[in-house]
Amino acid sequence: MNRLSRRTFVLGGVAAAGAVVAPLQSASAAVPYPFQLGVASGEPDASSVVLWTRLAPSPLNADGQGGMANADVAVDWQVSTTSAFTSLVASGTVTARYAAAHSVHVVAGGLQPDAEYYYRFRAQGYISPVGRTRTAPALNTLGRDFVMAFASCAHYESGYYTAYRRIADDRPDLILHLGDYIYEDAATAGSLRQHAGAEIVSLADYRRRYAQYKSDPDLQAAHAIAPWLVVPDDHEVENNYADMTRADSSPALTTAQWTARRTAAYQAYYENMPLRPANANSGNSIPLYRRVRWGQLAVFHMLDTRQFRNDQACGDGWKVCADADLATRSLPGTAQEAWLLDGLGQHLANWDIIGQQVFFARQFDSAGAGNMDAWDGYRASRARIQQGWVDRGVRNPLVLTGDVHASWANNLKADYATASSAVIGTELVCTSITSGGNGTADTAIPNAATNPHLKFYSNRRGYVRTKVTQAQVTADFRGVASVTEHGVAATTLKSFAILDGRPGLQAL
Ligand SMILES: [Fe+2]
Repeated sequence: MNRLSRRTFVLGGVAAAGAVVAPLQSASAAVPYPFQLGVASGEPDASSVVLWTRLAPSPLNADGQGGMANADVAVDWQVSTTSAFTSLVASGTVTARYAAAHSVHVVAGGLQPDAEYYYRFRAQGYISPVGRTRTAPALNTLGRDFVMAFASCAHYESGYYTAYRRIADDRPDLILHLGDYIYEDAATAGSLRQHAGAEIVSLADYRRRYAQYKSDPDLQAAHAIAPWLVVPDDHEVENNYADMTRADSSPALTTAQWTARRTAAYQAYYENMPLRPANANSGNSIPLYRRVRWGQLAVFHMLDTRQFRNDQACGDGWKVCADADLATRSLPGTAQEAWLLDGLGQHLANWDIIGQQVFFARQFDSAGAGNMDAWDGYRASRARIQQGWVDRGVRNPLVLTGDVHASWANNLKADYATASSAVIGTELVCTSITSGGNGTADTAIPNAATNPHLKFYSNRRGYVRTKVTQAQVTADFRGVASVTEHGVAATTLKSFAILDGRPGLQAL
């Protein structure tokens, strides 16, 4: 960065600090404001964090390029310990490439462990909004207690992203997104706010869909407040797909077209998420399952439960299905299952937190049917993982889940068929941000009679806020009563504690 531009950048930052989100235009700027998708950070370790933005002055352009010309653009970035950027601890320039839809993934390094930072970008004469982020504690220390929120399922047409805004209000240290960040379906006539375009299939379609979602100011606020750890579920590609098997044939696609669609979906996912460059797709595959360390306090095992799974048993849906018990079936796939058990056996931290997508605990209805898209459709795989952590003496296994558009809290059992069987872990399920619409005040636990290990249910929209200490994890199930009106408050519907060395839920 040359001296003149640095001076302009710093002066601009001082002015911007008092102006909240107003774009700051230099005298020479001749193009529209390019930071309409906000900023994000993610994947913190003890010395670095990923900083993300994507230039898109016209987010809804059908070509997916957000109004950017076919040229690469230089983007300056800065990291400071203060939101006024009075001194810089890291800075540089990165190229936003047309071939990557002008997204950037900066790995800002040389940072202190367990520390808070602020960051921003500059391009084309404009300065971006300021984001807040932080690093993880050093690997050999516990670090500070931390607040982690998690969420999933944000269908754009179903409502406003008030729950994302309330997450930002909490100022957590870390946010996990467990999938269904976008939905692939076409615009629905009469919806609260409509998707742009038809069902998304091409790279341009997926890029445009992310741009539409990321134009939302509540979502931008949640990204700007803390680093995120993200994993996709099905709707980032197509509903209920399983590896290379589609759940339906609409639109009709040849195998080559489906492969191209998955490639496009994975590329757009990487382009639009604050992931490390190591997580970029390679054609039709994307390396997303990974461990993120949080000192000695926690380790996050982030799973991919779509890309490698066997096809749903018995034709998917809720079924009584003997095939779901087959030992040959796996939800994470053989390699990821081995990787997970290997990581659990390393005792990397006090809390082994598994961030994943679909309902983990058994939930049979009174006829014995279960959800074939969830772990109930892959029961031997679930049993291997549960028994695997028992055999390895994992002290505090905690499973986090999304997907089902309702809040649940579950005890995990060595044998779900036996009421006296030991509790060997805990599952917290977040509701949706918007999917399913306003929800209801209903708290009657579905299928409680056949599943006494299911301890809490709420049909409100919202998220889960946790506080992680060495002694316990507390979980607050947060709900918003409406997603079809703006500005609704979030309230705590129910809280639980999970005590160190004692798996299972303690009601608070
Ligand atoms: Fe969903």
